[in-house]
Amino acid sequence: MKIAVLPGDGIGIEVTAQAVKVLKAVAGREAELTEGLIGGAAVDAEGVPLPPATLELAKNSEAILFGAAGRAGDELGPRDKRPGGGLLRLRRELQLYANFRPAFLFPELIGASSLRPELVEGLDLLVLRELNGDLYYGEPRGISIGPDGRRHGVNTMRYSEPEIERIAHVAFKAARGRKKKVCSVDKANVLETMVLWRETVAAVGKEYPDVELRHLYVDAASMELLRAPRQFDVIVTGNLFGDILSDAAAMLTGSIGMLPSASIGEGNKGLYEPVHGSAPDIAGKDIANPIAAILSVAMLLRHSFGRNEDAARIEGAVRKVLAQGYRTADILQPGMNKVGTVAMGDAVLTALG
Ligand code: IPM
Ligand code: MG
Repeated sequence: MKIAVLPGDGIGIEVTAQAVKVLKAVAGREAELTEGLIGGAAVDAEGVPLPPATLELAKNSEAILFGAAGRAGDELGPRDKRPGGGLLRLRRELQLYANFRPAFLFPELIGASSLRPELVEGLDLLVLRELNGDLYYGEPRGISIGPDGRRHGVNTMRYSEPEIERIAHVAFKAARGRKKKVCSVDKANVLETMVLWRETVAAVGKEYPDVELRHLYVDAASMELLRAPRQFDVIVTGNLFGDILSDAAAMLTGSIGMLPSASIGEGNKGLYEPVHGSAPDIAGKDIANPIAAILSVAMLLRHSFGRNEDAARIEGAVRKVLAQGYRTADILQPGMNKVGTVAMGDAVLTALG
């Protein structure tokens, strides 16, 4: 198993170290791990957030385990030196267009959710975010001086039919393995790009008569996510709305520190990362929750290598440490055993048996 390990910045470094520990314990010598630079660390060392060597490494690997990219004040620097840009280029260069962000509630964490227990009990939904298009990559873009002598900012929301079709197929197929419900989220009441989105998803939906399809505008969808989140199974949406809704969905489960994600394309190759970011404010303090990164390893083993048993073993170990009362600060509740990043990683290792 050729795996690139890209810890990146901030807590990405700490949580990836715990994830690697778990990966090594499960896969042993079969895992051939190679570390690479990305994000702010790469900007410091090489002047760019995605050095050519890292792109090569990622291209030659079967899977990529990613930590986080970004540092405080990033938005102030030039665009080609922004740490997050390394991740964005990687997603696009490798054509990883389907981003799976499952949000499920561990029963042990029901009291840690920001919603009342009766609203989130049994919550299990999937935000499927398109990852290669939309305002993130659309041209023209930039800040320029307008005819009035003042600065104007432009970004372009852009989607083609083929781009929408391929993510829609992924959504309907994913729903078939779940509760057979797809909710497509757009803003078709205002934006032409989103009219195309809605029409195209509906057309693809005809090929999946066994899957229920409905459409929601993004404002209504965010309201429903907070009002009655269990109505959702698969939420399929564009890059920007998916970025926002997946953070919101994550909080329903207790902490964004719990949730893994997978970004995949046509083959088995995938990039696996915690949904959370680099959290510069808590970096280097041994308090970050490594569970999202550890569960990303489970997704990696399942999607890229078909090692379902190993994945289930890791997920089972996480369940066990939660049942044993181990909690990092973000999911701490009265009477629980507060641990740091490394100790949580160790607890999962022990629970693997
Ligand atoms: C995410 C992050 C990234 C994004 C940033 C770091 C570029 O927020 O993966 O959700 O906006 O896609
Ligand atoms: Mg985000």
